[in-house]
Amino acid sequence: MCGIVGYIGSKPAQEILVEGLRKLEYRGYDSAGIALCREGKLEAKKTEGPLTALEKRLQADPLTGHLGIGHTRWATHGKPSDENAHPHMDPGHQFAVVHNGIIENYLGLKEELQKKGYTFTSETDSEVIAHLLADLDDGDLVSTVRRAVRRMRGAYALAIIRCGEPDKMVAVRLASPLIIGVGDGENFIASDIPAILEHTRDVYVLEDGEMAVLTREWVELTTIGGDSVDKELFHVTWDAVTAEKDGYDHFMQKEIFEQPRAIRDTLAGRLKDGIVDLYGELSLAEEDLKKIDRIHVVACGTAYHAGLVGKTILEKWAHIPVEVDVASEYRYRNPLITSSTLVIAISQSGETADTLAALREAKKGGAKVLGITNVVGSSVAREADEVLMTWAGPEVSVASTKAYTTQLVTLALLGLHLARVVGTLGREELSDTATAMLRLPEQAESLLTDTVAIEQFARGIAGQENLFFIGRGLDHAVVMEGSLKLKEISYIHSEACAAGELKHGTLALIEEGFPVIALATQQAVRDKMVSNIIEMKARGAHVLGLALEGDTEVGKSVDEILTIPKTLPLLTPVLSVIPLQLLAYHTSVVRGLNVDKPRNLAKSVTVE
Ligand code: F6R
Repeated sequence: MCGIVGYIGSKPAQEILVEGLRKLEYRGYDSAGIALCREGKLEAKKTEGPLTALEKRLQADPLTGHLGIGHTRWATHGKPSDENAHPHMDPGHQFAVVHNGIIENYLGLKEELQKKGYTFTSETDSEVIAHLLADLDDGDLVSTVRRAVRRMRGAYALAIIRCGEPDKMVAVRLASPLIIGVGDGENFIASDIPAILEHTRDVYVLEDGEMAVLTREWVELTTIGGDSVDKELFHVTWDAVTAEKDGYDHFMQKEIFEQPRAIRDTLAGRLKDGIVDLYGELSLAEEDLKKIDRIHVVACGTAYHAGLVGKTILEKWAHIPVEVDVASEYRYRNPLITSSTLVIAISQSGETADTLAALREAKKGGAKVLGITNVVGSSVAREADEVLMTWAGPEVSVASTKAYTTQLVTLALLGLHLARVVGTLGREELSDTATAMLRLPEQAESLLTDTVAIEQFARGIAGQENLFFIGRGLDHAVVMEGSLKLKEISYIHSEACAAGELKHGTLALIEEGFPVIALATQQAVRDKMVSNIIEMKARGAHVLGLALEGDTEVGKSVDEILTIPKTLPLLTPVLSVIPLQLLAYHTSVVRGLNVDKPRNLAKSVTVE
């Protein structure tokens, strides 16, 4: 959610900060601001609304200087407003701070500082940091920050500058992501790599409890306590253009069309001689894998939907019982965790607070934790015992697409690997499945060559207010994702129903012309699904069916039909979700909405 950028160097900082913030817009925000240090004076400009509002203000009254920090805020404590936007400064304008996270003890600190005469101008928890710094100021930025941080509880990433030290800035990380970009005669702070990629490819990823002191010439890494930290520079190999729209109208569209490439990358190097091989990536010994007697999957939103498909895959292939939990519920239900439980935490960003909390709960209970994530160096990647990267590449659009399909493919690889280790699938089945997986990229490509029928259907539903998605078995898991996608970017209310459940209540809502999207790609329940479609049709529903190529039955009972290529039933969700993603995308476009940044949502949800 919130985005942080910091710059120290010889170039005008304003432009670099604003451009950096623009690269972080995908995280979601409702206000933005920057503070610069010039001739020993700190000045800030901040506005509610989009970055363009800030730019307008800066055009009229620019900030000059070669040291500065910037922030895009997503409201938690206090509404979106100019006052609540960051950076925050103390009344004497000695310190400017930008903050991502939550200071849990801010009320106590605020009361203490108010008694000392500090006046607060915002409703945020973050402003307390600026006042605390001023209160503890000992004339040295670094030691003052160390003392202030010791008083703070919660989760934070901070970038701080002090007017008396115009040649220095400080970054601190505790449970919110932060990286340091190392340039030539200039250095950077950012919440995420795209913000600084235009300037440098060499970054340090700060860990929890670490601090960086930056001047133009050097970067010093220490713990908050002051012990020096030695870590390698991470060289970013992907191109800045990968994080841009690349000719597509929207990031979501680009990311949907990137799926064949993304799936190829997920598979690359993991199917050796036609057989799955994750031995090089998983450090768990075969004996430990054989001891796993239950699996818990924890994740949120789209990643949770991937987990629902993963459950069936893992149970069918590896014969291990799997429970799937929405991460925000997991730790409050006192799950039965033992040392032979494997907990799989799925998270595109690797920073989702609820998923991290569930992961930590699992570790506390003695489980082995395997993270499936898309972001190298993310909290999930660092905190899990084992990590499988999805290799989807940066996902910018708030609505997750390529993350989902690559999560499914990663879960399938894991399922195959476990099946190989525990011996539940023979060599021939392993090899046939691997062959089917290798065809997925090309099959996904074929689904993207002609989208005219989907665009037409999107135009048809764009004026509707309600819609149902129905399916059985894995199709039910996929329609949950299709429904979420449609809801979040088109704002049309939709529900995903297990088709066999309709007659137990939901059917009452069906009337003439009610739009229904029915998935019938799972052969084992195809006939039952056709009966459910007929039940809907009999009540007047207008049904779009999705079936396998060559299926001649489903088309007879629906109003419109789309088909997808045939693969193994357990792999079908990788393909069947694509028309649903396209449908959500085109519906949002027809309705003229902000596809990539739907209202009220953020890309990276780092608060519980
Ligand atoms: C929906 C969507 C969200 C995320 C969820 C988890 O399109 O993107 O539902 O899937 O917030 O995010 P990650 O995977 O980053 O943990």
